[in-house]
This record gives sequence, structure tokens and C-alpha cells, in this order.
Amino acid sequence: MGRGILQFPVVLRAGVAGLGLLGLGAALAAGDAERGQALYKERCSACHSIRYNGQGPAHAGVVGRAIGRAPGFDYSPALRTAQGMWTEENLDRWLTDPERFLPGQRMNVSIEDARDRADLIEFLKSQGTRE
Ligand code: HEC
Repeated sequence: MGRGILQFPVVLRAGVAGLGLLGLGAALAAGDAERGQALYKERCSACHSIRYNGQGPAHAGVVGRAIGRAPGFDYSPALRTAQGMWTEENLDRWLTDPERFLPGQRMNVSIEDARDRADLIEFLKSQGTRE
């Protein structure tokens, strides 16, 4: 096996490591909103919709919105009193492990796969801005 053949994958891997160094923002930018929409339907829509509060709060404009502030939704004290915004990074942490991100929360649904989370967040980003 010649060195020349090995070189290409090595360079590729270095490129991926470089992306990792740029942090979560770069990784999340790769999200696919269309795939995210399908995942949303499958994994979120039992409790959430974009426009209406259900078992979970409405998601229109959630990216960039303050945590726990969908009008008219009865949040747990954990979310109601939380400080901060739903940045992409916070959404990623929430979907990874909601209880770890905001102990006392009432969602208890987590998404293990980082790509699934990125795609879901990309879809949410496409669903309006704060009203
Ligand atoms: C079993 C029902 C259920 C499912 C399924 C569910 N959620 Fe939730 N979600 C909730 C509840 C309930 C809350 C409010 C939690 C609280 O008040 O502690 C919530 C809150 C949220 C919030 C905070 C919104 C805000 O206004 O602060 C986000 C973001 C969120 N969910 C995203 C998702 C996504 C994305 C999915 C799919 C991967 C999902 N949820 C699946 C029930 C659910």
C-alpha cells in the first residue's frame, strides 16, 4: 500500500477534526431542514406543533426566543424561571439531555444522534421568528 493512496483519507480526517475545533456552530450549520421536518413529525409532533400549544409549547420562532416564554403555555417552574435564550447551542444541549440542561423540566424526551439534533434545529430555525 503506497503512501500516495493513504494520503487522501488522512487529509479528509484532518479536515473533519478542523471543523470540530470550530465548535458546535460549525457542526450545526450542516443541518438539513427537510430531514429535520420529517424527524419533527416523527419525534416531536405528538406533543408540539409550530403554531399551537399542545402538551408542549408552540415552536414558531423558538430559535432566538427566551426560554419558557411561548405565550399561554403552562411551563414547569424550571422552564418558567430559566434565564437565557434558545440559541442553537442551548437547543442542542436541551435535546441531548433536557434534565441535565434544566433540572426539573417536564419534557423527558432526548435525541441521541447529533445529526438528528442538528437537522431538527435547522428545521426549527426555518419556522419563523419571534412574534
Ligand atoms: C411527550 C411530549 C413531548 C415530546 C415528544 C417532545 N416534547 Fe418538547 N416539550 C414538552 C413539554 C411538556 C415541554 C415543556 C417542558 C417544561 O415546561 O418543563 C417541552 C418543551 C420544549 C422546548 C422548550 C420551548 C420553550 O418554549 O421554551 C423545546 C425547544 C422543545 N420542547 C423541543 C422539542 C423537540 C425538538 C422535540 C422532538 C425531538 C420535542 N420537544 C418532543 C413535551 C414534549
